[in-house]
Amino acid sequence: MSRIEPQPGVMDIELYVGGSATVDGVKDVVKLSSNENPMGCSEAVTDMHAKTGLNLHRYPNTDHSDLRAAIAEVHGLEANRIICGVGSDEVLQFITQAYAGVGDEIVYPEHGFSMYPILAKMVGATPVVAKERERVVDVDAMLAACTDKTKIVFLANPANPTGTMIGGNDLARLADGLPDGCILVHDGAYTEYVQGFDGGAGLVEARDNVVMTRTFSKIYGLGGLRVGWGYAPQPIIDVLNRVRQPFNLNDIQMKLAAAAVRDQEWVTKCRNDNTRLRAWLAEALMEHGVPSDTSCTNFILARFADQAEAEACDEYLKSQGLIVRRVAGYDLPNCLRITVGDEPSCRRVAHAIGQFKGGAR
Ligand SMILES: Cc1ncc(COP(=O)(O)O)c(C=O)c1O
Repeated sequence: MSRIEPQPGVMDIELYVGGSATVDGVKDVVKLSSNENPMGCSEAVTDMHAKTGLNLHRYPNTDHSDLRAAIAEVHGLEANRIICGVGSDEVLQFITQAYAGVGDEIVYPEHGFSMYPILAKMVGATPVVAKERERVVDVDAMLAACTDKTKIVFLANPANPTGTMIGGNDLARLADGLPDGCILVHDGAYTEYVQGFDGGAGLVEARDNVVMTRTFSKIYGLGGLRVGWGYAPQPIIDVLNRVRQPFNLNDIQMKLAAAAVRDQEWVTKCRNDNTRLRAWLAEALMEHGVPSDTSCTNFILARFADQAEAEACDEYLKSQGLIVRRVAGYDLPNCLRITVGDEPSCRRVAHAIGQFKGGAR
């Protein structure tokens, strides 16, 4: 019998757990567990969807040129330095596959996005965790965690699941302090929720060791479409395109994403609504004795007294048809991550948490 073995690290991967969408026995359910946009996507996208003819016998454009041109035009970037993927997850995967392997290290913050260790193990690299300070990325700890084996540093900014972010000076200090040959991946999945923030584009322009990733899954309301993109120095893009499958995106994905990025009015509207409702929700929870850090995203990280209380609250919310996210796997056992839903959902979840804290269990 031959011994068929996976690559080192593969069997150490703990499977990614998505946000659940159903509660047994409860019909009227609100899903606040996956940071989706409750407003959905722009009408420009639904119109395009209706128009997009089925051309299923033809392969799609392999170089994504129309979508890259739309992204470049809207964001004032160089189209040649953009790469598109099946969600930003796939772009993160290209980077990991191309730049890290057995014997290398990948650094990310203590409560960093759960795909980072998955990707590290996928290529046999060693995941290295840098402590945060009160749920905020600590640049000194990140730099201290780096060695000459570190090939990639992952940083979601704003971060998931903490919702916090670090500023431009800290980012520049991190990028400048990395060991030679190490890439900083500035994961900007939640960029658009921060008014005026470039998501790290300026950092990419000014350095040769920074890559920015972005997504259509959050503010664009297109989590189901699976489109993300990255912006990087040309030599890195040339490498990433070598590990990308030629037809990774289909025609419909590209057309709808291009329509979405061109409708920045929708993005502004969604950002404004989110900012207003997020502040309302955080304050309502605070009044019920549930604090949270100032969030720069479309969710808040609600802090409870301990793990038992967080879990009991989660169970109570479920019984009320409200699905939020437990984050014990992120080493935040006393917290629940709650997506900012539409206004009725925000009121409903705040009311239920008030009932729970008032003794309804
Ligand atoms: C920080 C962060 N990065 C990347 C992603 C991946 O997003 P997608 O693959 O949908 O673009 C997510 C999704 O939740 C996220 O929270």
